[in-house]
Amino acid sequence: MRKGFIAVKTDVKKLRNRSMLRSGTHQKSVRSFGCSECPLKGRRVVEGTAALATVDVVVVGEAPGKTEEELGIPFVGKSGQVLREVLKYAQLENVYITNVVKCRPDRNETPTPLMIKCCKSRLEDELRHAVNKKLIVACGDIATEWLTKHGEVTQNRGFFRDTEYGKVMITFHPVYVLRSLNVTDVLGNDPLNYFSHDFRRAKEFLTTRKVCKDITERVQVVKTSEDVQNMLDSFSVFSQTGEVCGVDFETSSLDMFDPQMYVSSVAITQGKEKVWCVPFKFLEPSLVEVASRAVQKVLDTNNLVMHNANFDMLVAHMKFGCCLKSVDDTMIMYYLLDGSRGHSSKRLKRLAMDWTDYGDYGVEYDELLGLSEARLIDYNCKDALVTVELREKFLHVMQSAWGESMINGYNNVVKPAQLLLFWATVNGMKVDVAYGIQLLKDLQGKIKVIG
Ligand code: URA
Repeated sequence: MRKGFIAVKTDVKKLRNRSMLRSGTHQKSVRSFGCSECPLKGRRVVEGTAALATVDVVVVGEAPGKTEEELGIPFVGKSGQVLREVLKYAQLENVYITNVVKCRPDRNETPTPLMIKCCKSRLEDELRHAVNKKLIVACGDIATEWLTKHGEVTQNRGFFRDTEYGKVMITFHPVYVLRSLNVTDVLGNDPLNYFSHDFRRAKEFLTTRKVCKDITERVQVVKTSEDVQNMLDSFSVFSQTGEVCGVDFETSSLDMFDPQMYVSSVAITQGKEKVWCVPFKFLEPSLVEVASRAVQKVLDTNNLVMHNANFDMLVAHMKFGCCLKSVDDTMIMYYLLDGSRGHSSKRLKRLAMDWTDYGDYGVEYDELLGLSEARLIDYNCKDALVTVELREKFLHVMQSAWGESMINGYNNVVKPAQLLLFWATVNGMKVDVAYGIQLLKDLQGKIKVIG
């Protein structure tokens, strides 16, 4: 048994009694739902497991399996044991467990769009009757797609989404968790770790109603010329420490060469505790020039860390005239640790979710332009604070995995190479990335032959 888990034997009798407690109103006849068109018509309907009116959390899976069909109760087979153990481990009570499709598809296959469509009103009915629910947990692609319209679980796991049905947290399907035990990533975590982590965060949400950490106390906002001076004074002391500053720019577009593009806000941390924010979009026009010069000074006199620095370095240089001498890029650090992952798994919010305890502070990109001043500052500052934390964690994992020589390699080869690439780009040199990749492949091939 995994450390931290309590063995739970599902008490089927108790569950059966509880399922009798359902409000009843949603247990309508087959005809009042969409069953007549459904390929699974006539199969045993497996509905949820609690008194709907009293539930705090609704957990939604895919469709019942063989054991569930036999017993008429969702999630009581092997994957159900995993789910129920994790619920207990996270101390989640008053949970209603159900599925997108209520009957078992042949050979436990993934339900077809028609099955999902025919069963839609059943789940809608359950969700409607769970009047006191505070959170819905979507387990796996099918439930995530149904509830949030973003079915890609590996990318969205751990995030909370506001939907027409209420707040939804996305997590793995327990079958996937069960199949991937011991398949660990660079952090040494397997899907079960992430699955239980997600449910602990669900519990935290129920108690605090917060999906992310509160950083208000740590934020200094620059809105007046006095604030500008305070920021400069504070950084002139901070620079002496040699510690890093996390930097993040929020911009009106991602096209650096769009003449309309402007910087709406900049956040610069002092280590990982304090963060200064200059919300350019909300500044008095008379202050923009002096605040920009202050930003340039701070960035030029500190060791910086950025995420996906290729973009932010261009912004720093082109919009603020920065010289940029020392920049760590957390995206490259992560790539060194786990280059096999797709680009989107290196998104800052995804990494923040997996490597820090900031939680879900994400904002959809198209929401960014319309954010209020307070939300923009909060979001921008979190991005910068998370970036510093990631650097620290990545260095730690690099150190324990590879030792000092790789850290030296990173500091003396990778970092300077990135700066070189950056300066080559801003000086108009055409850098052919595809050619570089091909060159690397050829070299690797030759090294293999020599070896
Ligand atoms: N998988 C599901 O999605 N639901 C169950 O009830 C059992 C297994």
